[in-house]
Amino acid sequence: MIPFYDGRRVLADRRDELLGAVARVIDSGVLILGPEVEAFEAEFAARVGTREGVGVASGTDALLLALRALDVGPGDEVITVSNAGVPTIAAIRLVGAVPRFVDVDSDRLLLEPTGLEAALNERTRAVIPVHLYGQAVDLDPVLAFARAHDLRVIEDCAQALGARPGGRQVGGRGDAGCFSFYPTKNLGGLGDAGFVATDDAAVAERVRALRMYGFDAARRARIEGLNSRLDEVQAAVLRVRLPHLEAELEERRALAQRYREGLQGTPHRTLSGTGDDAHAHHLMVVLSPDRERSRAALDAAAIGSAVHYPVPVHRMEAYAFLGLAEGTLPATEQACRSVLSLPLHPGLEPADIDRVIDVLNGAFA
Ligand SMILES: Cc1ncc(COP(=O)(O)O)c(C=O)c1O
Repeated sequence: MIPFYDGRRVLADRRDELLGAVARVIDSGVLILGPEVEAFEAEFAARVGTREGVGVASGTDALLLALRALDVGPGDEVITVSNAGVPTIAAIRLVGAVPRFVDVDSDRLLLEPTGLEAALNERTRAVIPVHLYGQAVDLDPVLAFARAHDLRVIEDCAQALGARPGGRQVGGRGDAGCFSFYPTKNLGGLGDAGFVATDDAAVAERVRALRMYGFDAARRARIEGLNSRLDEVQAAVLRVRLPHLEAELEERRALAQRYREGLQGTPHRTLSGTGDDAHAHHLMVVLSPDRERSRAALDAAAIGSAVHYPVPVHRMEAYAFLGLAEGTLPATEQACRSVLSLPLHPGLEPADIDRVIDVLNGAFA
């Protein structure tokens, strides 16, 4: 049995440290927005390479609060992609804005910058490039386009902590970089948590106010906010895990490389550019010539798999009001029909990967 995801080994490796961190919080008597959050904010912002960082309750909230802090609101349009799951779109809708989708490229399934111009109109306020599966979007054309049209750029880094195109961690080049610490992410809490990284002190200050009812220092609402605080236990847990991130990324990288080599010349195509440090190897996504057949073979061999994601957001019932018919985003829709995610997490054995590859090849022999 090879599960799609199993986080127990990494947590077991850190069990004593994690329990110690939780005990430290219990003994401190401060459970919300205290010294652990403050320390984690400094440590994580340093890791991303931004001057400021704000811990929040989830990755979705990070996007929502960044949008609010950058004054994106009702009636505005935000350009993004439709193949990266619901959270990005949920955040756009929660501020009252409307997503405007561009198609993806068919090599890496990331936002295709050549599509930006056609998506632009007088309501466009922002672009959210999603660094999907651990891959980094090429930000140069996105930032140039945003500058030319006075648009904000919010990087969705939920899946890409550790991706360092050109030696720089994603999340530090746009107006804000949003991270998720959902337990299965490259850096996971023992529950939900998120982060907004930014070089802009005013944006950070607004996110800080927004995450707690829009309060100023006198606890009076200066702007309309909500509750999206990061709690001390999660911050303490994340502080234990952060120093081990590099080693875990290295493990992911080696495992992904083994997949890449083993799948070369087989019916399952890996996405291009997975071997370098521009990739954080969050998910091992391949394109299957017949996903049902691939998954049936994996199931029969007790190997877990997943699909990220089977239905593009513009074709989901909740977003029918956008009025986007099948065929609107051809590369996105084709990607959703063929993507298949294989097991990839620290603790997985190289022999497990060889077994997954054998089963996939066997299914198409
Ligand atoms: C691309 C992307 N954006 C945003 C999120 C939202 O993160 P969270 O689950 O912490 O709200 C996720 C994770 O679920 C994600 O994969």
